[in-house]
Amino acid sequence: MTFDRQIKIAPSILAADFANFGAECRAIEAEGADWVHVDVMDGHFVPNITFGPATCAAIRPHIKGVMDVHLMIAPVDSYIEAFADAGADVISAHLEAGPHIHRTLQAIRGAGAKAGLAINPGTPVEAVAYLLDMVDLICVMTVNPGFGGQKFIHSQVDKVARLRAMIGDRPVHIEIDGGVTVETAPLVAAAGADVLVAGSAVFKGGSVSNTAPYGANIAAIRAAAKAAQ
Ligand code: DX5
Ligand code: ZN
Repeated sequence: MTFDRQIKIAPSILAADFANFGAECRAIEAEGADWVHVDVMDGHFVPNITFGPATCAAIRPHIKGVMDVHLMIAPVDSYIEAFADAGADVISAHLEAGPHIHRTLQAIRGAGAKAGLAINPGTPVEAVAYLLDMVDLICVMTVNPGFGGQKFIHSQVDKVARLRAMIGDRPVHIEIDGGVTVETAPLVAAAGADVLVAGSAVFKGGSVSNTAPYGANIAAIRAAAKAAQ
């Protein structure tokens, strides 16, 4: 993984066909996805359950590029090794998931993955100030985590701009997760985000047997974001 601030579109397979993850991952990459975003939920940190490391390992061979694993689980630390072994390139943990996020981020890098730090809409951006030199990515949640298809929370655009200033010239990606569409992508791209997660906005209108809409949706989000960057 090389670092740059070009817009990267990361479709979330939370909006894919759960019976066809392999084919869905191949399809979104063929249709222009830069990263594949994988949402792991435990029914405890968030009120929804998806899947764990075994599913990540099973889909890994179907992804050529970056597998971006977003852990919405608590506790986190005891599972990091399993997700690294499953082939995650980026592992993001939530700042709100436990009392020792500093240790969690050390453990992610120690396991050989890029370290991501996710923050909920209610978490102030200043909370990441002493963690900036130990992360590769900060994920600003623009919905409350747990479900796809929610409405973008506009107050977070200012948070992205403040985070971009705090990061300075550090090689840290700003990822946006939740409610990203052709309408909201330009707002966060202009504020300094470079990785845009999109679930429903990418998968809408398509299926494994009709993947062209995925490509059109990815291209439209990318074009809107790039024009604003
Ligand atoms: C929410 C997840 C998101 C979600 C995004 O908890 O982390 O990745 O799938 O879905 P959309 O793009 O539909 O808001
Ligand atoms: Zn996510």
